[in-house]
Amino acid sequence: MKKIAIFASGTGSNAAKNIDFFKNHKSISVSLIVSNKSDAGVLKVAEQSSIQTLVLEKEIFFRGNAFTDELKEAGINFIILAGFLWKIPTALIKAFPNSIINIHPALLPKYGGKGMYGQYVHQAVIDNKETETGITIHFVDEHYDHGDIIFQAKCSIEENDTAYSLAAKVLQLEHEHYPKVVEQVLLQA
Ligand code: GAR
Repeated sequence: MKKIAIFASGTGSNAAKNIDFFKNHKSISVSLIVSNKSDAGVLKVAEQSSIQTLVLEKEIFFRGNAFTDELKEAGINFIILAGFLWKIPTALIKAFPNSIINIHPALLPKYGGKGMYGQYVHQAVIDNKETETGITIHFVDEHYDHGDIIFQAKCSIEENDTAYSLAAKVLQLEHEHYPKVVEQVLLQA
């Protein structure tokens, strides 16, 4: 069995979609939900599905072992980020080579980087009068929103779209594709 840890900072709707998708999977399971916030909605999602949780402590994450020992002890093989807002430290990337992926709510390399998350992304897309946006699923490296791209899906932007309506369209694309892409990557790993 390959064991996934999902890292999330917020509501956790992508985490929930992945938990559902892998619930009865033959060879992949979501075994741990990790958050940097003790009151994040994603921890309730984990509780409802009886999945173990881990709340990160900043000092240990960035200047200690980056919780690599705890993750290895839990038997984690793969990490997926789903709205996780802290940068991934080098120690964690080294401990999980080619085994950390992220989803970003825009068509990278545009609209990525520090501070580019959630509504900030969609507002920038609207302000620049783009005609399309979408999602990017990519491997994680030492830079924000930068590693090799695995998958992208697009949606068009209409004249009456706002940052809020775009957020809803993009989230729908994320829910549709993220679990399937994670499955493909893990089955090939
Ligand atoms: C998702 O749209 C995800 O792409 C985004 O946060 C949202 C989390 O939603 N991530 C980033 O912006 C990372 N740069 P969720 O908590 O409902 O899954």
